[in-house]
Amino acid sequence: MTGASQGLGRAIALALAADGVTPVVAARNADALADVVAEARDLGAPDALAVPADLSVAGEPERVVAATLERLGRLDILVNNAGATKRGDFLTLPDEDHLSGFALKYHAAVRFCRCAWPHLARTGGVIVNIAGVSAQTPDAEFTVGGPVNSALVNFTKAIAKRGTDEGIRINALCPGHIETDRLQTRIRVQAEKDGTPEAEARETLRARYGIRRFGTPTDIAATVAFLCSEQAGYIHGATIVVDGGTTPGI
Ligand SMILES: NC(=O)c1ccc[n+]([C@@H]2O[C@H](COP(=O)([O-])OP(=O)(O)OC[C@H]3O[C@@H](n4cnc5c(N)ncnc54)[C@H](OP(=O)(O)O)[C@@H]3O)[C@@H](O)[C@H]2O)c1
Repeated sequence: MTGASQGLGRAIALALAADGVTPVVAARNADALADVVAEARDLGAPDALAVPADLSVAGEPERVVAATLERLGRLDILVNNAGATKRGDFLTLPDEDHLSGFALKYHAAVRFCRCAWPHLARTGGVIVNIAGVSAQTPDAEFTVGGPVNSALVNFTKAIAKRGTDEGIRINALCPGHIETDRLQTRIRVQAEKDGTPEAEARETLRARYGIRRFGTPTDIAATVAFLCSEQAGYIHGATIVVDGGTTPGI
């Protein structure tokens, strides 16, 4: 489980723990990961493990998978969730923002899938890649995150073909606009731009996105838990959109 120190990743790790899964959580913030592990243990996962790592660095995904196998002896589920891409007009975003966006969310996911693959094939495992609705709906202010998410969805579908032969079930999940620190930042920026209170900026964004409410991390975590369960046994190679209806296309 990557990017599990906060936000969606944290919620997903805890939802899986509540379902009887032993989560191994990776991100950079060791203290925050330790808190997630403590909560997972309270939920009945005594062997939950934190592996602090900068996952944008080559070799770190392999180290996280090795630590998982050392601790648990098997690997059943891989959730690629870590991601941090800068928003802004593409004319002002330097190469570094594009490269770091891909390094974390795309290349780390590819590396995790590659090194986890033989172990997931052994257990008949599951991969869920967390992309985002910008994969299908480009946004002029999201010219790094959108292409990263599109690439991740494409990669997910591509490796699902191979997963069919080897018994690994693989899906992408595209969240819409979810209540996390990321959304708070967007609301703050909107409030500054409009010169309005944050509550008003929040309502402006909600109306612009065409949703009744923003999603919660629990909305996403519950879907991931379902996708990892046997009930979702025939869902494979799919892109699941969980967005409160914001995506305009078919
Ligand atoms: N929130 C939304 O509305 C939304 C919508 C669509 C898609 N998504 C996607 O969902 C995922 C989670 O989003 P979120 O809103 O929960 O984000 P978030 O609150 O910013 O959390 C991002 C996670 O990624 C980790 N991370 C960042 N840089 C890292 C690095 N170099 N190495 C390892 N871990 C790193 C962070 O932990 P550390 O800082 O401890 O490393 C954190 O756990 C992202 O991929 C995002 O693109 C979110």
